[in-house]
Amino acid sequence: VVRRLVPTCDVRFLLSLETLREVRNKMRTELEYGLKRETQANATVKMLPTYVRGTPDGTEKGKFLALDLGGTNFRVLLVKIKSGRRRSVQMYNKIFAIPLEIMQGTGEELFDHIVQCIADFLEYMGIKGARLPLGFTFSFPCRQASIDKGTLVGWTKGFKATDCEGEDVVDMLREAIRRRNEFDLDIVAVVNDTVGTMMTCGYEDPNCEIGLIAGTGSNVCYMEDMKNIEIVEGNEGKMCINTEWGAFGDNGCIDNIRTKYDKEVDEGSLNPGKQRYEKMTSGMYLGEIVRQILIDLTKQGLLFRGHISESLMKRGIFETKFLSQIESDRLALLQVRRILQQLGLDSTCEDSIIVKEVCGVVSQRAAQLCGAGLAAIVEKKRENRGVERLQITVGVDGTLYKLHPHFSRVLQETVKELAPQCDVTFMLSEDGSGKGAALITAVAKRLHNVGQ
Ligand code: BG6
Ligand code: GLC
Repeated sequence: VVRRLVPTCDVRFLLSLETLREVRNKMRTELEYGLKRETQANATVKMLPTYVRGTPDGTEKGKFLALDLGGTNFRVLLVKIKSGRRRSVQMYNKIFAIPLEIMQGTGEELFDHIVQCIADFLEYMGIKGARLPLGFTFSFPCRQASIDKGTLVGWTKGFKATDCEGEDVVDMLREAIRRRNEFDLDIVAVVNDTVGTMMTCGYEDPNCEIGLIAGTGSNVCYMEDMKNIEIVEGNEGKMCINTEWGAFGDNGCIDNIRTKYDKEVDEGSLNPGKQRYEKMTSGMYLGEIVRQILIDLTKQGLLFRGHISESLMKRGIFETKFLSQIESDRLALLQVRRILQQLGLDSTCEDSIIVKEVCGVVSQRAAQLCGAGLAAIVEKKRENRGVERLQITVGVDGTLYKLHPHFSRVLQETVKELAPQCDVTFMLSEDGSGKGAALITAVAKRLHNVGQ
């Protein structure tokens, strides 16, 4: 079916090994641009320093609050960390909804809502009086000058609250807490979800020096040698870099592989022209690419008897979980038809085969592109260490990686193919990045107290 689709609808989704190598090499070039002083200001892959200088060593301890904002769920967590021989992490968390009108309202409304959720959580846990240290996982690009300051560079994914870009999100949170005037918190760290994920996995495996998110959005962080980070003073040790690789291609460097469907998805998004690589590789957009192809095939009379239903015109109907279900090998075609039915799409058996194939090529391309990017990162790590072979662990999180039946396998195969001198272990982050944020907070708190 794929072969039949290709000539009819410009589905240039099947990438050759050579093209993937090219993507890997371009990613590498962009990573270097982001690290160098002269090119950094214009770099599309921003390579943001995080001021996280090491992975956990087991001596972290204490009771912390954590916020986790920017993925599928917004969570507030209480994390209790014990150190020593009986080291352990206990977590209590509550998921809260962020309504669309809050995600895309004013900044003040968004942060007031967050503080309202914290208040509910503290009330629920019965800990309103305690002034706990807080780690804020904020999964958007932030320019940091220290661990507890982060200026939002620009919203990505489904957020677009006004008056936040260019502002310090920690200040915005502090002000919202002050406005409410009901409790006080000690905000110690602001952390990207990739960094939280790397730390969570680093707690179990000290060889974990990379964090990958393949979820609503797509991003990677990794431990870079300080001597290579020209915009931060000092040459000793390492610092974690939040690459913000989702913006790869915003300068047009991968336009040769973008299809007309990718362009349509981009144009219909909240941030046209931005996050081009993310829009080809992450959960928030894959369903939209599929929908654009289906519309095109229907227009050509190849699908749904040539009838474009109202449902097919609805943005966002194909969530990651539906793609994952449709592509599951265990699912009979009749069940695929049932899912399409649920989405308001009346299909024949032939239609369901085509839909499944379209989902297949779109998610396969996503996993391969993500693998090509990751190959650039592990190769760079190998060269940094100056070794012939590199053993490294990548901490991973995100619904696309966790739920999709083929994504993780294709991603891993691609990395193996494109970085043959690296032995990469993928470690699933079991408890999300909240735990990592708490670990970072614990370290920051300890260093801060020592400094006082
Ligand atoms: C969660 C992490 O498990 O995964 C979040 O705790 C992260 O910090 C999220 O943003 C990413 O996945 P998704 O699919 O929810 O965007
Ligand atoms: C987007 C954000 C990035 C985050 C990623 C995964 O790319 O810009 O900060 O890590 O999504 O959630």
